[in-house]
Amino acid sequence: MKQQLSLATAALLAQTVAGQNMLRFACSQLVVDRVDPIVNPGMLYTPHLHQIVGGNSFNITMDPADHDLVSQSTCTSCSFNEDLSNYWTAVMFFKNKDGMYQRVPQTGNGGPQGKLINDGGLDVYYIPSGRTTAFAKGFRMIAGDAGNTDDSKVNKNNICHRCWTSPNENTFVGAQPCSGSDTVAIPQSPNCKMIRQTIIFPTCWDGKNLDSVDHRTHVAYGQGYGANGGGACPQTHPVKLPQVMFELMWNITDFSDQSQWPTDGSDHLVYSMDLGGSAAHGDYVFGWKDDTLQRAMDSGCNLNRDCPAAGLTSQPPEKYNACKIPQAAPEPVDGWLQALPLGGSIVKK
Ligand SMILES: *[C@@H]1O[C@H](CO)[C@@H](O)[C@H](O)[C@H]1NC(C)=O
Ligand SMILES: *[C@@H]1O[C@H](CO)[C@@H](O)[C@H](O)[C@H]1NC(C)=O
Repeated sequence: MKQQLSLATAALLAQTVAGQNMLRFACSQLVVDRVDPIVNPGMLYTPHLHQIVGGNSFNITMDPADHDLVSQSTCTSCSFNEDLSNYWTAVMFFKNKDGMYQRVPQTGNGGPQGKLINDGGLDVYYIPSGRTTAFAKGFRMIAGDAGNTDDSKVNKNNICHRCWTSPNENTFVGAQPCSGSDTVAIPQSPNCKMIRQTIIFPTCWDGKNLDSVDHRTHVAYGQGYGANGGGACPQTHPVKLPQVMFELMWNITDFSDQSQWPTDGSDHLVYSMDLGGSAAHGDYVFGWKDDTLQRAMDSGCNLNRDCPAAGLTSQPPEKYNACKIPQAAPEPVDGWLQALPLGGSIVKK
């Protein structure tokens, strides 16, 4: 009896420790490009612009049948050498009163390990809750809907924005993401200096399909919400995944002068679809080396630190910042633009 108790206690303790630990690391910009190998494979100048981070094997086709991210990448713009995955999102633009656009600069966020050092891009989390099954080779998924214009169709516990009124990076921490006064819409207040965008992916998998026609229905959100690894999974999607979360810091400090804002009532901050926060979305193609992600989750690897138990080695910022690829669909994306780089409206009528 005594032994059983101590075993149970040990198991509980291990679970608690694993539950507190998570991977959290910087991913710098690999490229900003009008491509989307999940939604529009093979297409150049896709409907809207994305920022892409991760392994440099990223290209416009990425056919899961023959595209091996691990063996075909020679560097990654993310912290861990073993993570050759790709992650991408829309980018934010400031629109001025003359209808000109400028891409909003990005920075790494603060947090438990101090400020993450990013050259653009985003911060990525993998949050386990209990025993999780890492993604299989070829796995991909999308969170959010790039054509959605209805804020009420977005669960703000999963995809949200927070206004930070101080540009001081020590303040970029605080309550659970996607809680409290966080909004689906992009905050448009002149008091905001930084906007934090959070995209939390589903944590339950059907256990069979690496993808689905809409790139969403092979996964599902579990019970509960927030950045806690996700709760119990539904019977249709019984396999518990690590919770992937993107965190983006948009620095709007230079765009707070209201005299420069549009006078026609339109928003001064939009995503690259020319839509607001309702259309925020994130894309993920799994590409961790061998079983390193599974071992990282099982071993309680933490933050962006080396983790010998899982074979994780982290790169210094100058190394991952140097991993870049050229645009496949060349066009200007920086400085003042006469128009958004758009390939037509994707809003579903
Ligand atoms: C993308 O990479 C694959 C290798 O996985 C290659 O066969 C294909 O030609 C590349 N596509 C483009 C458009 O470069
Ligand atoms: C945000 O932008 C302002 C103005 O360009 C700059 O001074 C500040 O350092 C930036 N803050 C961060 C955290 O990148």
